[in-house]
Amino acid sequence: MVASTLTVDPMEEVAAALGDTPGFFQLYTPNDRELAASLVQRAEAAGFKGIVVTLDTWVTGWRPRDLGTSNFPQLRGHCLANYTSDPVFRAGLQRPPEEDRQGATLRWVQVFGNPLSWDDLPWLRSLTDLPLLVKGICHPDDARRAIDGGVDGIYCSNHGGRQANGGLPAIDCLPGVVEAAGGLPVLFDSGIRSGADVIKALALGATAVGIGRPYAYGLALGGIDGIVHVLRAILAEADLIMAVDGYPTRKDLTPETLRRVT
Ligand SMILES: Cc1cc2nc3c(=O)[nH]c(=O)nc-3n(C[C@H](O)[C@H](O)[C@H](O)COP(=O)(O)O)c2cc1C
Repeated sequence: MVASTLTVDPMEEVAAALGDTPGFFQLYTPNDRELAASLVQRAEAAGFKGIVVTLDTWVTGWRPRDLGTSNFPQLRGHCLANYTSDPVFRAGLQRPPEEDRQGATLRWVQVFGNPLSWDDLPWLRSLTDLPLLVKGICHPDDARRAIDGGVDGIYCSNHGGRQANGGLPAIDCLPGVVEAAGGLPVLFDSGIRSGADVIKALALGATAVGIGRPYAYGLALGGIDGIVHVLRAILAEADLIMAVDGYPTRKDLTPETLRRVT
């Protein structure tokens, strides 16, 4: 599981619920480097197994449905628990967030988002000894550059197509990124809706596959049971496809098992 910086519960509580499931902490780098370091240190202390830094969301894409309903939860004070529980963030507030929610939200607006350049990668790398992955990589050159800067893995994603409408499908970018990664792990998401999609991404070289909206759909329709159902359905279909099509192990899933339909 990859847990966002933007959550309803503080990361320590999320980590405590992970059990044996490896959890990665996803960092949106704030423009206050001390706060960034604090978030990463907390993630380490909480037991997360890696840090995923998202690179493709410094400004929000054009999202007409969100705009139509004024949907931006953070501006209503939601999903800010990792900030309001953070000593560095709290030190920058005039009054505690428990007394002044609006003040905390305004402070969040000031600190959220520090568009990084490649020059920032050594600093990012210096923050942690945990595996460091960069999320939102779709071009092989970017993958190579990130690896030169010391990352441990690449997360190929176009943010579920939510950032640049009409952009390249992430799955089309995956083979080039995998090749450029030269054997380092490549996580993949964006557009995975079924077990068949998982199998295709694995065959194209993904080390692991993530889902975004499907679990949220499950949550909306059926609460926790809904999420569990979505995950089980995806895993069951992936498992059955491997059995039915004669791929006994993960290593049998290679690009040669796919045929491009033009
Ligand atoms: C409601 C919503 C919130 C998201 N929040 C974050 C986030 O906080 N950090 C992040 O790295 N990605 C975020 N994403 C993107 C997902 O991590 C993921 O890349 C994307 O949803 C995968 O595509 P899919 O939705 O087609 O499965 C979010 C996506 C959605 C739909």
